[in-house]
Amino acid sequence: MKLIDNYIPKTETEYNKLYQKSIEDPNSFWSDIASTFAWKKKWNKTFEFDFKKPDFKWFLDGKLNITENCLDRHLTKKAEKTAIIFEPNDPNEECQRISYKELHSKVCKFSNVLKKNNIVKGDRVCLYMPMVPELAIAVLACARLGAVHSVVFAGFSATALAARINDANCKMLLTADGSFRGNKTIDLKSIADEALTKCPSVETCIVLKRINSRIKLNKIDKWWHEELNGESDKFDSIEMDSEDPLFILYTSGSTGKPKGMVHSCGGYMVYSSYSFKSVFQYQHNDIYWCTADIGWITGHSYIVYGPLLNGATTIMFEGVPSYPDFGRFWEICEKHKVNQFYTAPTAIRALAKHSLDFVRNYDLSSLKVLGTVGEPINEEAWKWYNENVGKNKCPIVDTWWQTETGGIMISSLANVTKGKPTFATKPLIGIQPVLLDDEGKEFHENNKNGILAIKFPWPSIARTIYGDHERYNEVYFSNYPGYYFPGDGAFRDDQGNYRITGRVDDVVIVSGHNLGTAPIEDAINLHENVVESALVGYPHEIKGNALYAFVILKNDKNIDGIRAEINQLISKTIGPIAKPEKIQIVDGLPKTRSGKIMRRILRKIAAGETDNFGDISTLLNPEIVKQIVNEKN
Ligand code: WTA
Repeated sequence: MKLIDNYIPKTETEYNKLYQKSIEDPNSFWSDIASTFAWKKKWNKTFEFDFKKPDFKWFLDGKLNITENCLDRHLTKKAEKTAIIFEPNDPNEECQRISYKELHSKVCKFSNVLKKNNIVKGDRVCLYMPMVPELAIAVLACARLGAVHSVVFAGFSATALAARINDANCKMLLTADGSFRGNKTIDLKSIADEALTKCPSVETCIVLKRINSRIKLNKIDKWWHEELNGESDKFDSIEMDSEDPLFILYTSGSTGKPKGMVHSCGGYMVYSSYSFKSVFQYQHNDIYWCTADIGWITGHSYIVYGPLLNGATTIMFEGVPSYPDFGRFWEICEKHKVNQFYTAPTAIRALAKHSLDFVRNYDLSSLKVLGTVGEPINEEAWKWYNENVGKNKCPIVDTWWQTETGGIMISSLANVTKGKPTFATKPLIGIQPVLLDDEGKEFHENNKNGILAIKFPWPSIARTIYGDHERYNEVYFSNYPGYYFPGDGAFRDDQGNYRITGRVDDVVIVSGHNLGTAPIEDAINLHENVVESALVGYPHEIKGNALYAFVILKNDKNIDGIRAEINQLISKTIGPIAKPEKIQIVDGLPKTRSGKIMRRILRKIAAGETDNFGDISTLLNPEIVKQIVNEKN
């Protein structure tokens, strides 16, 4: 078997050479990369695609199981190496180190539990869990058996959880008695119980004991530890086709319903692994830490799959950066001698607000590479991170990608290609970004803003939206035919570096979380006293963006309590992360003559502009703009 190291550039010249090769001859390039994995049966054709249908296939007729590559393959040389370090929420609780051998046996055991509970290849299993090793184990156990995992972030509400379970028709739910979050506990089980009253497809719910709360087991509930009792730690991985689905992960869209992005086994394996190694330049004994939650794509690709495919040591952290104090991240870096640290700009901005002593108290000399993900990083936060955490000696990889792309698309490669503050910089090898003008025409000039698009497929492009291929086509491939359209704008400098300028659709990135405005408006409109609402994003010092709701009421009844009630409705239907920072009660919304809300104007008002709204004379109700501005506080 070839070694992946042979295809990881070590210098900028090598990057340029490999990049060129990947563009000129993608077939042999990706075939070489894929040959570094263990396949049960080699593929016949490297790829096949049609942007019009749209249809993407990679490593056709290849047979594999991703867990064989995450686990079994490492047992010859790395059996005793730590695969996962678990750092609990409470710093006084002992951390856990799970070796590759132990992880292998835990995963096999849990695959047997799934099997015993009638889960077979192709069934969907929903996971609504705290950030504990069992979550990673269960994800891998699903993959080993061929079940499609659908992890739902444990901050979502019962309604949101139920909608996701029902959309994918999940047969099983995996959850816990609760979770720890800083000095609070969260009652996951009652949220899950409430969701399950509306989910007829779920036949079994397996409950992990994490916080030892007293809970009542329902008819379909089983205890995790009891199910494991006596199970064998042998489980032959099921043979999967390259194009069989590996998982579904929901992301927000411009309309109410979340999109269940489907990732396939072969392509996702190849790209999550290759991108991890290229970007972070992980070396054999490094300790790698990504602070994300496995409920998001960053956790899937860069806590679980990417690192384990590379035989790395990956840290899973259960807690929050502010508990027991704002030094927790740095305490963990010192404790485990972290070499690569990957987090979100929101976390950096929040920590930068506090005393530098929280950073200075710890020895961060083990750090070699820093990373950011999820939203643009502003210059100030970049500098703070570089100076105080990286001590001006660690490259910062600013990684642009999406749930839909499965892996990092644009980023510098640590110590290989140059970084540039606030720029994601260059495409990864094999990735072909372009800029389009408003008419959708590709342009090649630099120092210009445009719409970001990708003009050639890559192995881990999401294959469809679960159950709705038409929507997949409409959202990503129909606005700019012949391209994948991610929904972001970008600027390209004269060196060809890309800076992501933000969303060009109705998705707002709040604290690195993707939030569609439409589903939140739908939640607000559920209130009996609301006539209409409009939600926009505006720049926020810590969160990057925050939400601003403009709401028209039927009458003045209980006007004081209305904000709290709206927030409650949003928490209940989506989750607390979707609560707006500000809610302004208005008499009307600026509308075009055809009745469309002019969000452009509302965005400016929310951002604090008081004039310069452009030509508003064509509005149906131009006078409302001034009134909204005057009543804003
Ligand atoms: C945004 C997260 C600027 C972008 C991996 C994208 C970024 C959306 C960056 C996807 C970055 C992600 N710089 N913006 N480095 N990384 N984004 O699906 O708007 O949760 O479209 O995936 O986050 O968010 P998602």
